[in-house]
Amino acid sequence: MLLLQSSSTRSRRPISVVAVALLSIISRLAHAADDPAAPTIETHEQPVFDAATSAIAQPRDDNIQGGDSYAPDFDYFDRSLLGRQEPQDSRAKELTNNEKRELDIVPGQTVYFVLKRGQKRLTRADKATLDALEARGLDHATEDPSYEAALDGRDTGIGNGDNELGRRQARNRIWISANTCKQPNPPTNGTAALKNHPQLVMFVSTSSQNQKPGPDSINGLATPPSGIIFENGFANFSLQADSDIFIGISAPTLEDGWFGSWHFDLAASTNGPYHSYNGNDPFLFMIDTDSDSALFITYNLSDVGTRDVDKWRQRNPFRMYAFEFDKVTPVTGLERSLCAIQNSNRTTNITDEVSITTKFGGDLPKAQFHLQGLKAGKTYNGFLTVQGGQDVLKLPGNTSVRSGGMVFQQFNFTTKADDTCQVIFDLDFCDSVAYAVPSNPNFRDDNKKLKARYDNLAKDYYANFSRSLAQVACDTAAEAQYSLARTCKDCEKDYKSWLCSVLIPRCEDWEAPGNWLQQRNINAPLSDGSLTFGGNVSKEFNDTRRARLGYNSTRNPGIDPVTPLGPYKEMLPCEDLCFDIVRSCPAKLAFACPNSPAKELTYGKRDPKDRELRCNFPGAVVKLNIRGAAGMLDARLCLAVLTAVLVVASMS
Ligand SMILES: *[C@@H]1O[C@H](CO)[C@@H](O)[C@H](O)[C@H]1NC(C)=O
Ligand SMILES: *[C@@H]1O[C@H](CO)[C@@H](O)[C@H](O)[C@H]1NC(C)=O
Ligand SMILES: *[C@@H]1O[C@H](CO)[C@@H](O)[C@H](O)[C@H]1NC(C)=O
Ligand SMILES: *[C@@H]1O[C@H](CO)[C@@H](O)[C@H](O)[C@H]1NC(C)=O
Ligand SMILES: *[C@@H]1O[C@H](CO)[C@@H](O)[C@H](O)[C@H]1NC(C)=O
Ligand SMILES: *[C@@H]1O[C@H](CO)[C@@H](O)[C@H](O)[C@H]1NC(C)=O
Ligand SMILES: *[C@@H]1O[C@H](CO)[C@@H](O)[C@H](O)[C@H]1NC(C)=O
Ligand SMILES: *[C@@H]1O[C@H](CO)[C@@H](O)[C@H](O)[C@H]1NC(C)=O
Ligand SMILES: *[C@@H]1O[C@H](CO)[C@@H](O)[C@H](O)[C@H]1NC(C)=O
Ligand SMILES: *[C@@H]1O[C@H](CO)[C@@H](O)[C@H](O)[C@H]1NC(C)=O
Ligand SMILES: *[C@@H]1O[C@H](CO)[C@@H](O)[C@H](O)[C@H]1NC(C)=O
Repeated sequence: MLLLQSSSTRSRRPISVVAVALLSIISRLAHAADDPAAPTIETHEQPVFDAATSAIAQPRDDNIQGGDSYAPDFDYFDRSLLGRQEPQDSRAKELTNNEKRELDIVPGQTVYFVLKRGQKRLTRADKATLDALEARGLDHATEDPSYEAALDGRDTGIGNGDNELGRRQARNRIWISANTCKQPNPPTNGTAALKNHPQLVMFVSTSSQNQKPGPDSINGLATPPSGIIFENGFANFSLQADSDIFIGISAPTLEDGWFGSWHFDLAASTNGPYHSYNGNDPFLFMIDTDSDSALFITYNLSDVGTRDVDKWRQRNPFRMYAFEFDKVTPVTGLERSLCAIQNSNRTTNITDEVSITTKFGGDLPKAQFHLQGLKAGKTYNGFLTVQGGQDVLKLPGNTSVRSGGMVFQQFNFTTKADDTCQVIFDLDFCDSVAYAVPSNPNFRDDNKKLKARYDNLAKDYYANFSRSLAQVACDTAAEAQYSLARTCKDCEKDYKSWLCSVLIPRCEDWEAPGNWLQQRNINAPLSDGSLTFGGNVSKEFNDTRRARLGYNSTRNPGIDPVTPLGPYKEMLPCEDLCFDIVRSCPAKLAFACPNSPAKELTYGKRDPKDRELRCNFPGAVVKLNIRGAAGMLDARLCLAVLTAVLVVASMS
């Protein structure tokens, strides 16, 4: 077909083509973005108690607290107690609902917290709450499925027999969670850093007999006697309680060579876990990498019914972090802790350009991250987070994130080793292009110029195509159309997909594995100056490789100005893109796909098992699910369980 590359068939001539109206895609997108939809970021959550007013004891019969939230479960700390002098580290620190407290802790130390039950108001508060529940139904609770579940006792272990009892106890469900922000340093002289980092331990007691729970005080614990050991800097626990709750955070002693202390934050909440960790999913797709940057998108942030694009744009709570992985990273041992990840980011030079995009399927909002300042050929640990501090944030899949934020499952990705490829995205015309393309040093620091070079070429071809198509009966009544099944709109759409994919090749390192990758520019020197294929310049080898355009040049002459300095590989466009235009466009345009062997040099086939990305198509994304894939050592190798997303398909 057009732009064919084999030595025998490569055509240096543009497609003989012609035109119809340009699609109104852009304006359609713009309109959709104005769609007013229900907010996703909710603002209902608030501490059950207002710190300012509750410090002063309220009269018993004053029911004002029931006004716009549930009746208070916990009294604010009685200030008079603060006056009492106790040794700083042995006195229990008061926790306030939905507020975190931070503390340092040294090896072998245990520090204590208490969440006070509002003793004076106990009886009345219970009554008031029940009244409030009766009056309002469960409306309030629906903002939070876990809370709702707690209310009907579903995950509380309380039978449904006594509804009132169930509700009363459920109202007292407490979530306690913590993040380790800083940990001791490993010895500098050994391999200890590779082993498990020492973790803090949380002990919880509801017994007034044990107000200082810890490794040496395990009577009447709500937690197991060994406590809740922090996992990679994250601990959570939830319990039913009608009494004061006593919490001990205990630090282990350090093995030889380790030095330093911990810093952590702890919070208790009656609404749900303050800190969150999502170990099921990275919640991200990788788009592509080059030698110093990487592009990612989150899953869809809204459902079709509520697009909420503007809301997400105004307030995008997602951030991405990456740490070079060289046996360890700065967050090894604390991978589930938001504050640790945030703190460690200061030690990297990686910048993160964050935006909201509606590309990559469904015209729905996704957060997009362009990480820059990465090093070539390195493996990185990546993290997506929801920054803390916001009110309840709802994510698809019934996930609620509270003020402590959320860390998603970490993943690995690897940057490209060569300087031959460069990630581009957000092109004006080829708007579904987002991957690494062949490039050379003239464009290395000028993405704009590189994008314009490719995009303008595509626009030119498309203009000629449009002129050709205009000569075919497209806008006539259905009977006169060239096909009842396919219209000119289909032809335009398929042509554009095909054109952008063949004109803007997807670029891979020369050493990238995969026999579906096409070698390009093979006579250019490698980075060490040597010639490819061990310098084989025999006549036979020249005849089969070096002297064939399909191997010794770029895909098409239009992009010669961006020819990389070294050899590279191309992930070929999927053959179905070619089949589609043959099927969709009028026969008069005489599109045809190449036959073997030219076909193998110009188009790729999809992985029949759909596990990895073997050919390129608009909106291709790379799935980052670590668990399923075997050995994720090389991101490009293994992470490609691919989700096919044909952006243009949704626009017809
Ligand atoms: C478009 O058509 C014109 C006139 O035939 C030709 O000069 C030009 O090179 C074509 N452009 C492309 C990109 O094929
Ligand atoms: C989300 O939560 C609502 C209410 O708790 C429930 O009805 C629904 O099935 C849940 N959806 C999913 C996908 O879990
Ligand atoms: C603790 O957090 C984990 C991971 O976020 C979650 O699966 C678990 O249900 C939580 N446990 C409690 C008691 O909240
Ligand atoms: C590292 O240093 C510590 C303290 O200086 C010492 O106890 C330990 O044996 C050393 N480890 C190795 C592997 O040399
Ligand atoms: C960050 O950049 C500075 C200056 O270029 C360099 O000295 C430092 O080593 C870099 N840090 C990392 C972690 O790469
Ligand atoms: C991480 O640090 C870099 C460099 O200081 C900064 O540009 C970037 O915005 C930080 N990322 C986040 C998510 O804070
Ligand atoms: C977003 O949703 C659309 C429509 O449901 C789907 O086709 C697309 O694959 C989703 N994209 C992502 C990145 O999850
Ligand atoms: C990342 O890769 C390293 C090896 O390079 C491996 O040890 C580690 O388990 C991987 N991490 C994840 C989350 O896959
Ligand atoms: C093979 O090609 C290379 C590079 O194109 C050239 O230098 C060499 O002379 C060729 N070998 C023969 C035998 O023609
Ligand atoms: C060079 O390539 C030819 C043809 O592929 C092969 O037969 C020959 O063994 C190669 N020579 C060397 C030195 O690798
Ligand atoms: C590349 O292949 C073409 C077509 O066979 C040939 O004319 C040209 O000389 C080759 N270039 C090199 C550098 O070998």
